[in-house]
This record gives sequence, C-alpha cells and structure tokens, in this order.
Amino acid sequence: MDKFKGPGDEFQERTRHHRGERTSFGRAVIVRPSVYKTYPRAEMIRLEKASIEGGMGIWGCLNGRRSVRNYMDEPVGFGQLSQVLWASQGITAEISGHLLRNAPSAGALYPVETYLVVNSVESLEKGIYHYNMREHALECLKKGDFSKEIEKAAMDQEIARTAGVVFIWSAVFDRCKHKYSQRAYRYIYLDAGHIAQNTALAAVSLGLGSCPMAAFYDDEIDELLGLDSNIEGVIYLTVVGKT
Ligand SMILES: Cc1cc2nc3c(=O)[nH]c(=O)nc-3n(C[C@H](O)[C@H](O)[C@H](O)COP(=O)(O)O)c2cc1C
Repeated sequence: MDKFKGPGDEFQERTRHHRGERTSFGRAVIVRPSVYKTYPRAEMIRLEKASIEGGMGIWGCLNGRRSVRNYMDEPVGFGQLSQVLWASQGITAEISGHLLRNAPSAGALYPVETYLVVNSVESLEKGIYHYNMREHALECLKKGDFSKEIEKAAMDQEIARTAGVVFIWSAVFDRCKHKYSQRAYRYIYLDAGHIAQNTALAAVSLGLGSCPMAAFYDDEIDELLGLDSNIEGVIYLTVVGKT
C-alpha cells in the first residue's frame, strides 16, 4: 500500500462526481442554517463606506502582490480596514431578494464567516471582532490584546502578532452541506480561496502588505473565537498590515 495515502486521498476520491450518479453522496443535512451569523448582543461598530474608485489598478495589484512577512509598528487605517473587509466579502448586488457578494460562492450559499484579531488599527480597540457584511459593521466579541494568543495558535508565526490585523475565516459547514453533502468541503475551501485573494489584492491596492496562513492549530483558534467546531471551524487566515 502507498504509504502517502490517507484521509485526504480518500476524501478526494470519494467526493468525485460520476456521470449518472448526480446525488451519489446523499443529502446529509436536513435543517438549513441561516446564511448570516450575527451577534445581536455585541457592540456594533459601523465601518466606513467602501469606495469603488481609487487605489492601484487591477494589473498593478496582480503584479505587486507578494506574501509579506515584515510589518511596521504602525496601525492600519480604519478606512483601509473597512475597504479590505468590503473587498473580502462585501455585499455588491441584490437579485430577487438575494444579496450577492464581491467574492463568488458555490450555489450562493456563503459558508464562510470573517473574524478579526485586531492588533493595531486606528480608532479601533484591540480585540476580536466579527464582520457583519449586511450592515458593513464589526461586532465586538472580546476587547483586549490577543496578539500573543493568535501568534501561538498560528504555530508561533510572528506575523500574526506583528501585523495590524489578522483575518480569520471559518466555515459554517452545514450551509453548504445542506445542498452539496460531502462535496461541500471542496466548495468551502474554494470559496475561502476567492475571499483570500480579494483580500490580498485589496491590501496591495491600498499600499498594505498581507500574507495568507494555513499553518495553525485549529482547536486553539476555534476556542479563541468561541466556536463549536462541530458546527463551525476555522479554515484559513490572512494577516494584513503596514509595510
Ligand atoms: C493555502 C496557503 C497557505 C499558506 N500558509 C502560509 C503560512 O502559514 N505561513 C506563511 O508565512 N505563508 C503561507 N503562505 C504563503 C506562501 O508561502 C506564499 O504564497 C508562497 O511562498 C508564494 O509566495 P508569494 O505569495 O509571495 O507569491 C500560504 C499560502 C497559501 C496559498
């Protein structure tokens, strides 16, 4: 037996579509969760309205994007954070009552939630926040300096502490599993890739640096955010900061 075979290979094999077996994985989830998560009791901080003008053009952004690992000890602007959050998964259209975002999503099911660990952002207290994209606002979950906790959870990668802000993307798995069953996991990770690339390009456009991060201890980040990992779990991070 191939010693490099494991659960990932089994997943890849068992979630393939085969002609004539359209619903081969069955419908695993009966109750469809809401597309939006909100924290109604949290303090809400309105973000600045996003602009669809200005910034570096798309070709320059594509050419200039790099994973940046040295950050200045200077806060990210509140307007800059507002703009990058909007770019990550802001609402851009309403069609037949459905709100669509600037990042695509398989079946428009939007399984990915955005949280921030704010280390250093102008006019924003350090802490942990959730992005409410319908309101284009942040919901404050915890105030305080969590830079060391997030660095530790990110396998001691110091950029999680030194960058102004850490974007944390989680997935509410049943939003996508409800329709796509086990194949949903493929789509969830693809959705996250779109969101991360939007974030990276928006950062370049504003003269900020960013770095995607997938090396982290899942349980530690879920715990930091207070997530029940059977329902919702971290899938990806990106740091954004001044360079
Ligand atoms: C899925 C994914 C996970 C990554 N995880 C990390 C990480 O944990 N730490 C890190 O420093 N860079 C991480 N990177 C950044 C890559 O190392 C980087 O993209 C690669 O070296 C190419 O360099 P460039 O992004 O500057 O073009 C990750 C990139 C991707 C796409």
